[in-house]
Amino acid sequence: MKSAIVLAAGKGTRMKSDLCKVMHPVAFKPMIGHIVNTLKQAGVERIVVVVGHGAEDVKEYLKDSVTYALQEPQLGTGHAVMQAMALEGIGGDTIVLNGDGPCMQKETIEQAFMANQEHALTVLSAKLKDGAHYGRIVRDEMGHVKKIVEAKDCIAEELTITEINTGLYVFKNKELFEGLKEIRNDNVQKEYYLTDLVEIFNRKGWSTNAMMVADPNETMGVNDRVDLAKAEAWMRRHINEKHMRIGVTIIDPEHTYIGADVTIGADTILYPNVIIQGESKIGNHVEILSNSFLRNAIIADDVVIDSSKIVESQVDAHTTIGPMSHLRNNTHIHEHCRIGNFVEFKNSEFGEGSKCAHLTYIGDSDFGKKINVGCGVVTVNYDGKHKFRTTVKDGAFIGSNCNLIAPVTIGENALLAAGSTITDSVQDGDMGIARARQSIKEGFGTAYKNKE
Ligand code: UD1
Ligand code: CA
Repeated sequence: MKSAIVLAAGKGTRMKSDLCKVMHPVAFKPMIGHIVNTLKQAGVERIVVVVGHGAEDVKEYLKDSVTYALQEPQLGTGHAVMQAMALEGIGGDTIVLNGDGPCMQKETIEQAFMANQEHALTVLSAKLKDGAHYGRIVRDEMGHVKKIVEAKDCIAEELTITEINTGLYVFKNKELFEGLKEIRNDNVQKEYYLTDLVEIFNRKGWSTNAMMVADPNETMGVNDRVDLAKAEAWMRRHINEKHMRIGVTIIDPEHTYIGADVTIGADTILYPNVIIQGESKIGNHVEILSNSFLRNAIIADDVVIDSSKIVESQVDAHTTIGPMSHLRNNTHIHEHCRIGNFVEFKNSEFGEGSKCAHLTYIGDSDFGKKINVGCGVVTVNYDGKHKFRTTVKDGAFIGSNCNLIAPVTIGENALLAAGSTITDSVQDGDMGIARARQSIKEGFGTAYKNKE
């Protein structure tokens, strides 16, 4: 049985933020979200998140996908783990990791569990050019890990050690809770250090081990906004490479921003400065041009999106969107449609083969198939108090600059004359026209021009 304890109670003072540290997003997702996801992918069955600062925000975000332990006040990483009492008495291995390390990958977590099979404690270490503020791994003459010393508690000689503690450990759960009882706070920071367990385990004759991670970037801890930007850059590269390897063309990976939970099909092309967030699913052979923004968008195959915003909406195959269009709030554009320049759709259906090419607002509407919407059409869906729906049936033709005052229904193959303000429904095959008749004042133009 695999368990995990995620330490996420600290304030993250160096972030200088109203938001608690682990809720800061990397690749559009709170750091703690990345960690919980990765743990689940690695087959960890029980996850206890130790919360303190910002506990309510963390709980609201992770909901009941994990168990919580409250650490109040925060007396150090060892003290934090002591709060995960829910795991005491349970067998198996427990991974302990910091909530501020979003880049950790599933494979590394799996390896850490494997590495601990013959041991009671395995700490993941990394070689850095400069150990900076990290705890140092002190080994004995035989190369065996002896203890971890926090940078603040290091003597000069220890500070030169380049193998550091990544803050990720796997313990035999029984020994973990035994050992915790012996942690004291007699150090520079007057904190209960989890890292003291290495010495405690050694003293008790419980086998300890250090495993060096292949890529130290994975274990980077985010302590301030500079670290946050580094994690963001690493994650962006990692996510983009994953997509490129399965056949997505990313013209400029440094300037393409894709959330961790987005899926993209092969032969799709992303232009520079595209942002795709949330649970968006992009099909094959899709072309997304610069300055497009998608969040929770479902895009089928062979769609072209040009400089447009698509939020919580669906676009079916062979449809083109934009430039400069905005689809939002449960809009569904069906196959072979054309949505053109400066068009906004909200909470609407647009049937197969329909076209809406220029400067139009369609809200709370149900449009059928093969409808042509002219330039500058507005569905007037709101009277200042309530929203109403507009229905337009298959084959209708909506002339340019029409207003459709909802609720209203336009029948099959009906025609609306350009410039009409339509307040009453139009039956199948009929034409609605609602505008003042034009009159001509002969010679008025010239007379006006010649007037003083
Ligand atoms: C810790 C390690 C250090 C390691 C580094 C790796 C200790 C004593 N030191 O140092 O050896 O190199 O991580 O990044 O463990 N937290 C709590 N409750 C607390 C204190 C901290 O939940 O009382 C949480 C924080 O929210 C954070 C994590 O534990 O997510 C690490 O705490 P932090 O203060 O950042 O530890 P470091 O000083 O970085
Ligand atoms: Ca840290």
